[in-house]
Amino acid sequence: MKRITVIGTGYVGLVTGAGLSDFGNQVICTDINEDKINKLLSGEIPIYEPGLKELIDRNVSAGRLTFSTDIPPALKKSEVVIIAVWTPMGKNGGADLSAVKSVAKMIGENLNGYKVICTKSTVPIGTGKIIREIIEKISGDSQEFDVVSNPEFLREGSAVKDFLIPNRIVIGSESERAQKVMKQVYRPLFINETPIVTTDVLSAETIKYASNAFLAVKISYINELANLCDATGADVHLVARGMGLDGRISSKFLHPGPGFGGSCFPKDTSALVHMAKKENVEMKIVNAAITSNSIQWMQITNKLDTLFKDSFEGKTISILGLTFKANTDDVRQSPATPVIEYILKQKGNVRAYDPEGMANMKKLLPGINYCESLQKAVEGADGLMIMTEWHEFRAMDLKKIADLMSGNIIVDARNILDPKELKKNGFIFENVGRPNVK
Ligand SMILES: NC(=O)c1ccc[n+]([C@@H]2O[C@H](COP(=O)([O-])OP(=O)(O)OC[C@H]3O[C@@H](n4cnc5c(N)ncnc54)[C@H](O)[C@@H]3O)[C@@H](O)[C@H]2O)c1
Repeated sequence: MKRITVIGTGYVGLVTGAGLSDFGNQVICTDINEDKINKLLSGEIPIYEPGLKELIDRNVSAGRLTFSTDIPPALKKSEVVIIAVWTPMGKNGGADLSAVKSVAKMIGENLNGYKVICTKSTVPIGTGKIIREIIEKISGDSQEFDVVSNPEFLREGSAVKDFLIPNRIVIGSESERAQKVMKQVYRPLFINETPIVTTDVLSAETIKYASNAFLAVKISYINELANLCDATGADVHLVARGMGLDGRISSKFLHPGPGFGGSCFPKDTSALVHMAKKENVEMKIVNAAITSNSIQWMQITNKLDTLFKDSFEGKTISILGLTFKANTDDVRQSPATPVIEYILKQKGNVRAYDPEGMANMKKLLPGINYCESLQKAVEGADGLMIMTEWHEFRAMDLKKIADLMSGNIIVDARNILDPKELKKNGFIFENVGRPNVK
């Protein structure tokens, strides 16, 4: 059991803190956002993540998990400090490390004995060294510490499961002492033989970007194939199945859609290209994926244009799904945003509904009509667009939807509706890379 402070209690920090306390560690999750910490102190979970409330409640009740905005005392009490603050895209396309650097400074100011400083935020290759230098400069030579890179691979929407039962743990450190500490932090995973990849710090930092960029490339690849299928009449789902059964390819991440979004792939692909450029290395493939993804949402609006014969001025379009994927409330870089902005620019009216993402989207797009239910969003609509693959939308009664809508146009950007059912219920529709039913 280790005493751990997690700095940054967002999607990653909160799941990490709750997960590590479930492994038997004593964890304090800290953040500068008072509102977030106050919510947690009063038993409220500030984000939507399946299974997270139960995990937090269990460990708070057991006395292993607490929350605080007072970071220095937490640091002083801990043997392990996990940095899980945000690293958003900076103005130049690289990662903005200002939060990481200010946390490193605070750690340096409060170092009172050997600690393992573990970076879980996604940080550019070489950041471990920067963190070490900042801490050394402030704390002087008197205190001992090690810097470890321990990138996180959880997926929003299944973050609890991904954290508790990961495919692998990557621990980057040149120090045996720190490796031993990290082994104790993740003790249950060592015992159940989760693959542990032990590397140097630079390689661990690289693994995270390499993994995210690879997945982003794979998504862009299947999206481009879907666009080709749209043009040729082939069915991208059959193509993906035929490809995915090959173990070298795998069926994962071969589902076409409106493009990748979220808080990771867009910024991490951009940061990778940026850091490679600084080393005079050109990431042509990742660059191509970024370019391809930046226009994929237009494939979706093009379909709307076609179905409405190029003008939907004054028409009401119901947008179902605002989050960048299902089972999260995260709308960062969601493809729904440019799609909605396009409709508004063409003077269409938008009525939006999402089971979890409306509060966050209201902060980005305050001026649109948010509806409290799917039914309210589609009532009287001329057209409907599925932007997120929520189960609620998969399970829609299409006959009822047809009765509620004024028009009969549907664009299914996630291919979750059955074309035969759509046709049977009188819809005129488009999806991504699937031929129209005869
Ligand atoms: N979200 C994901 O699915 C995911 C997965 C793997 C890795 N990551 C990486 O993990 C990191 C965190 O991502 P996230 O999605 O949890 O971000 P987030 O925006 O949900 O949370 C970041 C938190 O850090 C806090 N913070 C910012 N500056 C701080 C400071 N100086 N001191 C204390 N707290 C501070 C913010 O208040 C916020 O609560 C990023 O580097 C991200 O790339 C994210």
